[in-house]
Amino acid sequence: MRIIAITNQKGGVAKTTTAVNLGACIAKLRRKVLLVDLDPQGNLSSWLGIRINELEKSMTNVFNNDVPLKDIISETCVKQLWVAPSNVTLASVERTIINREDKDTILKDRLELIANCYDYVLFDCPPSLGLLTVNALTAAREVVIPLETKVMALNGLVTLINTVNLVKETLNPALEVTGIIACMFDMRTNLSNEVVGMIKEKFSDKLFKSLIRESTKLAECPISGQPITLYAPESRGTKDYMELAKEILALEKREGWWMSRWMRG
Ligand SMILES: Nc1ncnc2c1ncn2[C@@H]1O[C@H](COP(=O)(O)OP(=O)(O)OP(=O)(O)O)[C@@H](O)[C@H]1O
Ligand SMILES: [Mg+2]
Repeated sequence: MRIIAITNQKGGVAKTTTAVNLGACIAKLRRKVLLVDLDPQGNLSSWLGIRINELEKSMTNVFNNDVPLKDIISETCVKQLWVAPSNVTLASVERTIINREDKDTILKDRLELIANCYDYVLFDCPPSLGLLTVNALTAAREVVIPLETKVMALNGLVTLINTVNLVKETLNPALEVTGIIACMFDMRTNLSNEVVGMIKEKFSDKLFKSLIRESTKLAECPISGQPITLYAPESRGTKDYMELAKEILALEKREGWWMSRWMRG
């Protein structure tokens, strides 16, 4: 099971867009994917048609009340894609768990019970480096960082990589940054090209080859209640996220992932 935190403390950089659409593309490539919504905004859950204000159980209960993760997981409109939803009540969790000894490892502990039920677990992180993100970084093996290439995005990236390294040193030695995704890429502007050039210069081996271009269909997609693969299967959004999914799947051998899948049978 590959566990990937999709994270960036900056708001609006396409974390949720990446979680939903990358998840759907990986599912299309015949992997079982669980999306975990770790953002109190609940955008990922709403996108997948969950009425977040009517949820009886959500990630809040998983953090606060020992509810097993498997009890809150729902199916989605996509075969092989499941979601563990959240809503605004998750915002209180950072306060309620702060004094617990296991405050950094709750998510990791909860995930252990579903180990190897899925091929991929993707965390959609909130736009902060608070306890929810620290829980994601402690439970994950890999970090994937979406960057908005329409703005100068590199300052925040250094802070984020420092946080990843801190978690790696203290809580999760296995954690690695798998890659940085250049999102909302607009090839007509110099700025997008410049930002991509700077990421390559500083983090050359980490930038995914697949770029996610700016696309109206991707922006419209959340209100359709479907990922881009269903909403606009022929669009550049589907093409770009599918390329990215293939690039990520190509790393399975490196992860020794196929071995655990084979052992699961
Ligand atoms: N490739 C793209 N082309 C056009 N619009 C995009 C693209 N990717 C994301 N967007 C739009 O950018 C906005 C921010 O995206 P998204 O909600 O995925 O970011 P986020 O990082 O999850 O935000 P938050 O930090 O609030 O959780 C949304 O309106 C989304 O539709
Ligand atoms: Mg989001």
